[in-house]
Amino acid sequence: MKNNKLKDILQNALGTIEKALSLDALINIKNTYLSKKSELMGMMSKIGELPPEERKEFGQEVNEVKTTIAASLDEKMAELSEKEMAEKLKKEEIDISLPSRSLTVGGRNPFHIIKDEMIDVFLGMGFEVADGPEVESDEFNFELLNIPKDHPARDMQDTFYIDKNTLLRTHTSPVQAHVMAEKKGEAIRVICPGKTYRRDDDDATHSHQFAQIEGLVVDKDINIGHLKATLELFAQRMFGEKRKIRLRSSYFPFTEPSVEVDIDCANCGGKGCSMCKGTGYIEILGGGMVHPNVLKMNGYDPEVYSGFAFGIGIERVAILRYGIDDIRRFYQNDVRFLHQFRKKI
Ligand code: DAH
Repeated sequence: MKNNKLKDILQNALGTIEKALSLDALINIKNTYLSKKSELMGMMSKIGELPPEERKEFGQEVNEVKTTIAASLDEKMAELSEKEMAEKLKKEEIDISLPSRSLTVGGRNPFHIIKDEMIDVFLGMGFEVADGPEVESDEFNFELLNIPKDHPARDMQDTFYIDKNTLLRTHTSPVQAHVMAEKKGEAIRVICPGKTYRRDDDDATHSHQFAQIEGLVVDKDINIGHLKATLELFAQRMFGEKRKIRLRSSYFPFTEPSVEVDIDCANCGGKGCSMCKGTGYIEILGGGMVHPNVLKMNGYDPEVYSGFAFGIGIERVAILRYGIDDIRRFYQNDVRFLHQFRKKI
């Protein structure tokens, strides 16, 4: 290289590149030596001032200096970024051999496990799920179910009143009236799971809030055999294939005839034990054939249509299935209780 100035620039540049310690420093060096305002580019722009015979060689030398500096920068850049990455990885290293913090996994409340299971059983039989309000009118909770104002059956279902005619529903039966209003004479096969309320003093077997699943089937030629077959299948699905049910005559204002349904005791097979209090049977629900007055009041001609209905306490089924000793446990959120129902993963 003939041009001493270029030689100096090249040497200086290579020297500083060699000593650079960071990528930032390299960027500065690049600006100093290769940008438009650099000394090198300044010299290049004055090429026109040289005698013509020197121009070619000078141009070639400037280019050589430029490409050598650029190549050296690239090389150093690769070296430094590799080093920086290695340092970063070292700094951010985590010790995967440390034991993790154990997470407490919750369990589903057995109430919901059983509720979903019950719903599945009825869906399997072709029932639809219907919904109704928990804040209900006197008309739907009582009147349309054949329980007029002065009816003694009201005494057993005292509840929380919002005003004289508005209350927290005492059972899911009012959904029967809502569904009949909606279906307007069409056939019905629904269940309605939901919360219910009574003005009870809470103890091991009573809770002011509890839940039921209501069932209602209305069609032509429905008889009590359909009710029995439906509930027997339900009992078998929930409590074992061998279960048998027994219908005992009972009274509800909205059914005629009305029945109380018992299952034979799974614990003793009907012989009598402490679980069934020596009777061999355990009561699980109430039901019956929909009262003609109820059909009529809700727009169905009882001469043409008949139906059956039932109401099952969800907690009651869960209590029997799991041997739970106190209904209040469903609502207390005690993890020691809930953990017993954790799914094994
Ligand atoms: N509603 C009743 C109760 O809460 C349960 C019941 C009985 C529902 C007979 C029905 C039925 O649909 O037909 O005690």
